[in-house]
This record gives sequence, C-alpha cells and structure tokens, in this order.
Amino acid sequence: MASSGSMPCLLAALLFTSLTLPRSAAAPTATRACDTVDDGYRCSPKTSHFWGQYSLWFSVPSDVDVDPPEHCDVSFASVLSRHGGRDPTMSKTLLYGATVGLIQNTSTAFPDEFAFLKDYEYNLGADLLTDAGRQEMVNSGAHFYRRYKDFLKGKTPFVRSSGQARVVESANKWLEGYAQAAHKKTGAIDVSIPEAAGVNNTLSHEICTNFEDGPLSDIGNKAQDIWVAKFVPPIQARVNGKLGTTLSTTEIIYLMDLCPFTTLASPTAQISDFCHLFTEDEWQQYDYYESLGKWYGYGNGNPLGPTQGIGYVSELLARLTEKPVQVVGSINSTLDKDFATFPLHRKVYADFSHDNDMTGVLAALGLYNNTKPLSNSTIESTNETKGYSAAWTVPFAARIYVEKLSCKKAKEEFVRIIVNDRVQPLDFCGGDRYGRCTLSKFVESQSFTRTGGHWNQCFTSS
Ligand SMILES: *[C@@H]1O[C@H](CO)[C@@H](O)[C@H](O)[C@H]1NC(C)=O
Ligand SMILES: *[C@@H]1O[C@H](CO)[C@@H](O)[C@H](O)[C@H]1NC(C)=O
Ligand SMILES: *[C@@H]1O[C@H](CO)[C@@H](O)[C@H](O)[C@H]1NC(C)=O
Ligand SMILES: *[C@@H]1O[C@H](CO)[C@@H](O)[C@H](O)[C@H]1NC(C)=O
Ligand SMILES: *[C@@H]1O[C@H](CO)[C@@H](O)[C@H](O)[C@H]1NC(C)=O
Ligand SMILES: *[C@@H]1O[C@H](CO)[C@@H](O)[C@H](O)[C@H]1NC(C)=O
Repeated sequence: MASSGSMPCLLAALLFTSLTLPRSAAAPTATRACDTVDDGYRCSPKTSHFWGQYSLWFSVPSDVDVDPPEHCDVSFASVLSRHGGRDPTMSKTLLYGATVGLIQNTSTAFPDEFAFLKDYEYNLGADLLTDAGRQEMVNSGAHFYRRYKDFLKGKTPFVRSSGQARVVESANKWLEGYAQAAHKKTGAIDVSIPEAAGVNNTLSHEICTNFEDGPLSDIGNKAQDIWVAKFVPPIQARVNGKLGTTLSTTEIIYLMDLCPFTTLASPTAQISDFCHLFTEDEWQQYDYYESLGKWYGYGNGNPLGPTQGIGYVSELLARLTEKPVQVVGSINSTLDKDFATFPLHRKVYADFSHDNDMTGVLAALGLYNNTKPLSNSTIESTNETKGYSAAWTVPFAARIYVEKLSCKKAKEEFVRIIVNDRVQPLDFCGGDRYGRCTLSKFVESQSFTRTGGHWNQCFTSS
C-alpha cells in the first residue's frame, strides 16, 4: 500500500480492506491448532518432525500425487495404524522423573531457557494415551474417512486391534473420528488379539525366540550407542556447563525425550519448554538416533526384522486377493481360517498396532530394500528422500494405507501403498508414475512373505 499514494482514498481503503480482511479474520498463528485432521502436527515443524517415533503424526511430503489418478476408483482400502501419543512407558517415566529430580538437586544455576526447570514438577503418567494422543486418533479416523469418503458409503470397516489398553483405546478413538466425519454411527472393534507370551498375534511380535532374545535383540541398541558417543558429548558439555550438573549421555537423551512427552501431556499439544533446550541440528541428530534404533532393532538392519512382518503381510495378501490366508509367521490359524474373525470379502479394513510391529511390516513389504543401510556414525539423511526416518514411518498415530484402484480400460486392479500420506514408488513390482502396480505383480513381488521369510531361523539354536 505504500506505493498507492496517488490512489483515491476510497479505492485505497477498499483495496486495503479486501486484502487484509481474509487474513485478519483467521485466528492468529499462535492459537491455531497444532494438530489437525489434514496435515497432522504442524507447530515448529523444523524440530517437531524430528522426534523419531515420538513425533506426533504429520502428513509426510509425497513426490507422487496422493490423490488417485484420473479415471480410477478406489475399490479396497485398508489401514494399519500405530496407537496415538502416550505417556512414557513405566520404566521410562521413572527414569525421566529421576533425571528431573537429579537436575533439581544438583544444579548450581538455571540460566536462560533452563529457567523453567527450577520449579518444574514432573507428573507424567505411564503407558496410556494422553488427551493429545486421543485427539490424534480421532483426527486419524476423520483423515481416513475424508480420503476414502465416496468409496466408504454403505461400508463398515472390519476392525482388529492388538490387545494392549492404549491400542484398543486408539482403535475406539479412530472409530469415533470416522463416525464424526461420516455423521453416522459406525462399527466397533471386531477382533482384539491379546498381547501375551505364547500368543500368535500378527499385530504384536512376541514368539520368534531368536529375535526376542539373544544377540539379535540388542543390535539396535548397539548401533544407537555408537551414535550416542558421537553426537551427545557436545550437547552434554553445553547442558552441564549451563546447569553445573554432571548429567550422563543417557540422561541427556532422557532430557530430549521429555520434549515430545511433555508436548503430548499438553491437551492441545503445545510445544513444551523442554523442546527449546536443543537446536534444530540437535533434533536432527536425535531423529537419526531413534531411526537407528528402529532400523537395526526391527527393520531391514536386523536379520530377523523383516520376518516379524510376514504374518501381517500374508493377511494383507489374503484380503487383497480374497483368497484364504497362507499361514506363516505369527498368524493364529484358528482366527484366520474363521470368517467371523478373518473375513475375506470385506473392502475396508483397519488394524491397530505398535511402531515396532509396523517397522517389521514395512520391511517385510520390501519398501526400503534399496535404502542405504544406516551408518552408525554419520547422518546420511533424516528422511526418506535419501535415507530412512522413524518420524516418516512410525510416529505416534502412524498409518499405512494399502488401497486398490480400479481404473478405466485396465484389465486388472492396481495396488498402491501410502505411508503417512507419502505414496511409495513400488519399484519392485513395476510401480508407475502414480505408484501403481497391478495386483498380480504386487502379489508376485511379495515372495519373501509367501515363502515364510526367515521364520525357520526363529527357533534354531546357534
Ligand atoms: C533429590 O532430593 C530429594 C530431597 O533430598 C530426595 O528425596 C530425592 O531422592 C533426590 N532425588 C534425586 C534424583 O537425587
Ligand atoms: C488362537 O486363537 C484362538 C481363538 O481366539 C485362541 O483360543 C488360541 O489360544 C490362540 N492360539 C494362539 C497360539 O495364539
Ligand atoms: C558400526 O558400523 C561399522 C561400519 O559399518 C560396522 O563395522 C560395525 O559393526 C557397526 N557397529 C554396530 C554395533 O552397529
Ligand atoms: C502359532 O505359531 C506357531 C509358530 O509359527 C505355530 O507353530 C502354531 O501352529 C501357531 N498356532 C496357531 C493356533 O496357529
Ligand atoms: C527385499 O529383499 C529381500 C531380501 O533380499 C528379498 O527376499 C525380497 O524379495 C525383497 N522384496 C521385494 C519386494 O523386492
Ligand atoms: C530431506 O533430507 C534432505 C537431505 O538430508 C533435505 O535436503 C530435505 O530438505 C529433507 N526434506 C524434508 C521434507 O524434510
């Protein structure tokens, strides 16, 4: 408006009004919701999208248009979802509380951004969803509904949940969000599979002995330890220098963990004060630390990681082809041979699980077969454009959509896989520029699952 000096006043006023009204009518940035149905978590993305699996779900940028191509209709939709944001696990919540106590007992100063710690009261719970985590799941149900709206008319999702309380509650919250978006009542959980020793559960790993115990169960931690020794010392020196403490490298990681967990403890998921103790670079290093844990603990970096996902992928192939499930891995054949607990002719499925299990499923599918193995001593990339990121794959309320498309003039249906809104290229089955493979080529590509992965190595003694 500065250059409009010669413009008649009235016109200038009109222009001014029409240019500024839409903006001032919107809520000021500070009070806009951090978590949203369409985009997920969007406050401070340069740090909050780098919290590994503790990130709140956000819509990951996709190189391929996520909308189905023209002349294609969705003919099948399924989601495998992680539970929503939670309090720390029981063992961690005790350790975090002790770390805060230690800082408060031994600090000689609380300067600058550390000032809040002086009177901070640790009161996080354990294991269960927080209100912000519940909202993530309500939003996720609405997100799914909005995406598949036209296709979903007259259909009810078949819903399975792993049996842990936070997963079951997540499934119910998802159904609530779905129902709200659909303006009608929708189904309930159809099958809940217990998480317990000796139970075959395709939504929760447990029974592959050599994966659960022994050397393979530790390689994720070992890779993380090497990276910790590299990235934490400078942070440790800075933090201890400011506080006058002698926090260990592990306690520095706990202090970083407290950023996502205290953010999740805010009912509206406002970025917490803990988050401001660290820089953008440090959050990228932390994200890489968490990614290493997933990659080597449960993904391609673990010789038996992908094998943990074959049970679920076998169920997915059965649903996609409407053919009886081929029993592999941790499938419970009693459940999966019964149409009441494993129907084959439904078109909409929703399953609820955990990050580690989903990491195994993504690996079993072969989605990251061409990803360079993660180095334990240098960050190669903190996202999937060049590498692998736990924040892009298994954040809280993560969702893997598998859809079929029926397209004009095509003899066969197509399959697409969309991980947190990012369309996967599916190079291994001839994925086209829309990320589509024909159903038969997709099934063919899943030979790892169809031949039982390395399940036989679960029980051999070495
Ligand atoms: C901090 O000091 C209090 C009071 O002396 C004590 O009860 C508590 O155990 C201490 N906590 C830690 C983590 O050292
Ligand atoms: C399989 O599922 C059935 C039916 O729920 C259950 O009774 C049985 O204990 C399960 N078996 C295993 C090994 O998980
Ligand atoms: C760390 O990476 C190096 C180089 O790839 C490898 O030789 C070593 O075994 C790795 N160590 C762990 C514990 O992951
Ligand atoms: C459970 O899994 C084990 C290991 O794969 C298998 O031997 C057993 O038959 C399965 N049980 C059922 C009920 O499917
Ligand atoms: C991924 O790699 C594994 C191990 O090399 C292989 O067995 C599997 O077929 C590959 N998956 C796909 C989809 O290419
Ligand atoms: C992904 O990582 C690359 C290189 O590490 C970086 O340049 C790019 O900005 C990142 N993209 C997103 C969306 O974070």
